[in-house]
Amino acid sequence: MTISPVYILAIESSCDDTAAAVLQNDVVLSNVVANQLIHNEYGGVVPELASRVHQQNIVPVIEASLRKANITKEQLSAIAFTQGPGLMGSLLVGSSFAKSLSMALAIPLIAVNHMHAHILAHFIDEEGFDKPTFPFLALTISGGHTQIVVVHDFFDLQIIGETTDDAVGEAFDKSAKILGLPYPGGPLIDKYAQLGNPKAFVFTKPKVPGLDFSFSGLKTAILYFIQKNVLENPNFIEENRNDICASIQHTIIEILMDKLKMAVKETGINQIAIGGGVSANSGIRSTLKAAEKRYGWRTFIPKFEYTTDNAAMIGIVGYQKYLHEKFENTSVISKARIQF
Ligand code: KG4
Ligand code: ZN
Repeated sequence: MTISPVYILAIESSCDDTAAAVLQNDVVLSNVVANQLIHNEYGGVVPELASRVHQQNIVPVIEASLRKANITKEQLSAIAFTQGPGLMGSLLVGSSFAKSLSMALAIPLIAVNHMHAHILAHFIDEEGFDKPTFPFLALTISGGHTQIVVVHDFFDLQIIGETTDDAVGEAFDKSAKILGLPYPGGPLIDKYAQLGNPKAFVFTKPKVPGLDFSFSGLKTAILYFIQKNVLENPNFIEENRNDICASIQHTIIEILMDKLKMAVKETGINQIAIGGGVSANSGIRSTLKAAEKRYGWRTFIPKFEYTTDNAAMIGIVGYQKYLHEKFENTSVISKARIQF
């Protein structure tokens, strides 16, 4: 007996990227992302503008994803969309479209938690990328979240540590803003850090009990450090940009690694998978790879295009939910905040 393939159309619109993907089972056939550059000039995402641009982009992005996957909408098995967490106005564009299309095609509707998707992105079938086995630890690091999660199974996840204030992506972006870099500053800090000395400047690490994180103190420490030095030398930032970025990145990586080591010790689990936009960071990637030899961990770093916000990761959760018949009816609502 041949089992016919499952085709999932996935839609992601939780923040400022409009994304659509088509999966055939766990294989990505297309993964389209339209970035919204309009926010760069404002130094952060403007929710009102984001929802407006999602409305302009959603139809062309979905059409492009079907075209690239070379399938028709009549072949689709189900529609998966991001239910939350995210900006309400942005989420509503994706969910309304998903509901309408699932009704029109009379196929199941699947709601996906964005953070769940950052974790299950590791289960996309991709040549050269191993999948973790259960249980594993997931470190989700994005512009909105910083969590350590024990992943017991596809649908059995337990948060054991999270940020008490800013997310790690915010720590990167706000530090970049202090240095006068445009939004989002994370990738730029990464770029300059590769040319600098990570030990040039020392920033005090926060003392947070257990597996929780805090990044707001670091941001303030960086602000005072820059203000003080610019007062003495107005060209301080320009003359030391690479070293400042390398030192900030080094501190952030140490904060993450300290908690990861603690989590491994407490749980006895030494498979670590990272996800979320900040896992694109080259310093985090190389530190984790080095931890394989140093601590005997197995680490999993997703393919670059599945780290920042994308719809393929929504599609892989959609596929698992399809197999388990975890469907929604059209009264399902978007949620700015949502738990696993
Ligand atoms: O997961 P994501 O695309 O969106 C959210 O769900 O938040 O993450 C975006 C965050 C931003 O804060 C951005 O600055 C950060 O990921 N980011 C990076 C890098 N690439 C993206 N941070 C540090 N280094 C990078 N290479
Ligand atoms: Zn994200």
